[in-house]
Amino acid sequence: MKISIINGSQKTGESNTGHILEKLKVLLNQTYEINIFNCGLRQLTDEMLNKIISTDVIILVFPLFVHSLPSNTLKMLIELENTIKRQQKNDLIIYTIINNGFYEGKQNNIAFDIIKNWCDHTGVMFGGGIGQGAGEMISRTKHLPKDRDLFKALNCALQIMAENINTKKPMEIQYLSPNFPKFLWRLMAVRNWNNLAKNNGLSKKDILKRL
Ligand SMILES: Cc1cc2nc3c(=O)[nH]c(=O)nc-3n(C[C@H](O)[C@H](O)[C@H](O)COP(=O)(O)O)c2cc1C
Repeated sequence: MKISIINGSQKTGESNTGHILEKLKVLLNQTYEINIFNCGLRQLTDEMLNKIISTDVIILVFPLFVHSLPSNTLKMLIELENTIKRQQKNDLIIYTIINNGFYEGKQNNIAFDIIKNWCDHTGVMFGGGIGQGAGEMISRTKHLPKDRDLFKALNCALQIMAENINTKKPMEIQYLSPNFPKFLWRLMAVRNWNNLAKNNGLSKKDILKRL
């Protein structure tokens, strides 16, 4: 089986999307041909788009931007749709993983609706996926030992995805939050924002100012 993974993160270095992608990669059957494309940093060429649609399964992984898709991912999907229609491809399935900054993974529901609509429009089967909240904690807690992993539910959902991919079977969308109390997550997030503001020459008051 051939699999295309598309990473929609715009970060040049480490990204939360990249971390999820790495977790999934090791769970996939290692005999499969897996190609990774990054649409966050530069536009995909026609050659890349053709290569993506020549595979059996597409996995799209991206961060939530303003309850929706990052503009680069949206643009890539429009180009992918044109390529699929030109080549009259009708046997593709797409699995989607979205991570967002707020605590609740449910925040990704609108972005999932957008992907579902794109599938209906393009003739690609919607394979379901995972909406993971508290995305910024993924890379920051990556060194925690396995028994203290805050993203055990994500690991289980990725395992389900990897198994469904073997038979190209759709999965339910799983909206997940970390295994960590929300009030502590909130405290840490506020401290993080205040530190970022300070490093950029702003005070706590400045970031609460209305424009
Ligand atoms: C421009 C922008 C818009 C964002 N919009 C949302 C949002 O609407 N809801 C949310 O929960 N997180 C939002 N986030 C947070 C990201 O989804 C989150 O930090 C994610 O983990 C980033 O993943 P990455 O490291 O792969 O880029 C936004 C981040 C940016 C930069």
